[in-house]
Amino acid sequence: MQDIVRRLDTCRVCGRDDWLEVTSFGSVPLANGFLDPADLPAEEPAYPVDVIVCRNCRLMAIRHVIRPDVLFRHYVYVTSESDQMTAHMRRIVGWCTRRAGLAPGELVVELGSNVGLQLALFQEQGQRVVGVDPAENLAEIANARGVRTLPEFFGADQGRRIHAEQGEAKLVLGRQCFAHIDDVHNVLDGATAVLAPDGLVAIEVPYLLDLLEENQFDTIYHEHLSYYSVTTLAHLFARHGLRIVDVERAAVHGGSIVVFAAREGSAHPARPSVNRLLSLERQSGLDSDDAYLAFAERAHQVIRQIGDLVRDLAGRGLTVAGYGAPSKGTTLLQFCELGPAEVRFCSDTTSLKHGRLLPGTRIPCRSPEQARDQQPDYYLLLAWNYADEIISKEQDFLRRGGKFIIPIPQPRVVTAEPVPAVA
Ligand code: TYD
Ligand code: ZN
Repeated sequence: MQDIVRRLDTCRVCGRDDWLEVTSFGSVPLANGFLDPADLPAEEPAYPVDVIVCRNCRLMAIRHVIRPDVLFRHYVYVTSESDQMTAHMRRIVGWCTRRAGLAPGELVVELGSNVGLQLALFQEQGQRVVGVDPAENLAEIANARGVRTLPEFFGADQGRRIHAEQGEAKLVLGRQCFAHIDDVHNVLDGATAVLAPDGLVAIEVPYLLDLLEENQFDTIYHEHLSYYSVTTLAHLFARHGLRIVDVERAAVHGGSIVVFAAREGSAHPARPSVNRLLSLERQSGLDSDDAYLAFAERAHQVIRQIGDLVRDLAGRGLTVAGYGAPSKGTTLLQFCELGPAEVRFCSDTTSLKHGRLLPGTRIPCRSPEQARDQQPDYYLLLAWNYADEIISKEQDFLRRGGKFIIPIPQPRVVTAEPVPAVA
């Protein structure tokens, strides 16, 4: 059996080994390693979160790579059916349909297709779809809702097989999974094996520039192996005969980019967005070491500030709970060294997490219905990427005097808007 953790020695994009050591966030258990209170281990295995940057292609990565089947074969992350995410998935359909000129009957392949919500939207407008997702539990849900899904890791073999069975794909889509992939070359070999000559590869990843500028340190955990800029993706795609023809920025997951790439020789013209973002990245210093080192310094400062604020509130007898138990939330709590004494519970809509304890901190996770009975004085907004949606639906909590702490870019407290005085 292979070791669970491997050290990234050479860059997964360019193969060089000239690394900038940016920072370490210490050793923590896996962010989605929720625990069953009836079967608690004495100790949870913990792995370092050390951030490095390739001085050649500027890939930002974590040094310790956990074996993918440990992370992704049984996965508790289910695509959110929040209003924001549903609207985004519809936008993705529009963007891809227009750019790839998708017609009914044409094939769309999605890797990391989760429970099939995104592909179902393509199916609704007449496309044939194939999803590929290694999480057997999720692939089963997708198949049950009629979205054909292979419970496998996508790679060269899968790309060739789908091509042989279903023909060319006009679109190969990978949403919020590309940053989880170690052997990106095998995945792009799979994508180019099935892609039509005039087809598009569309990859959505959290945007490195947003991560650095908004101090999103909590999005750095073992599932996220890579943190991409357009610069690095252009470098990667070029190695597979693909060129970036367009980029959209999207507000999901704290700021993401959807990068559209076509075959070198195809007729797709490059849109101005590509050069605009490449120069923005240069202006922001992503090609120098300083931008990463300054981020690390800010991140550690914000970690201290969040920890101090919550410990102070708890010390004064006020109750604090977590809103959401996303992977970034379990990560934030661990980096800030907050446990059940300071954060009583986390409320989350994902039923797979209910009744479980958060990894490392062992804070209990409850359903929103259970949480409603014991509302805290403060909710630490761990799912900060849904801040607008959550704050607007939690107006009652605010009106009753409840407060939110939004942890990043700097911790700040949100209270109810003062009621205007009646004249
Ligand atoms: P997400 O930000 O997608 O997760 P990750 O950091 O793991 O990539 O997940 C948001 C989490 O927040 C998810 O576990 C569901 C939860 N959530 C709520 O509990 N209430 C809400 O209103 C919303 C929008 C999300
Ligand atoms: Zn590199």
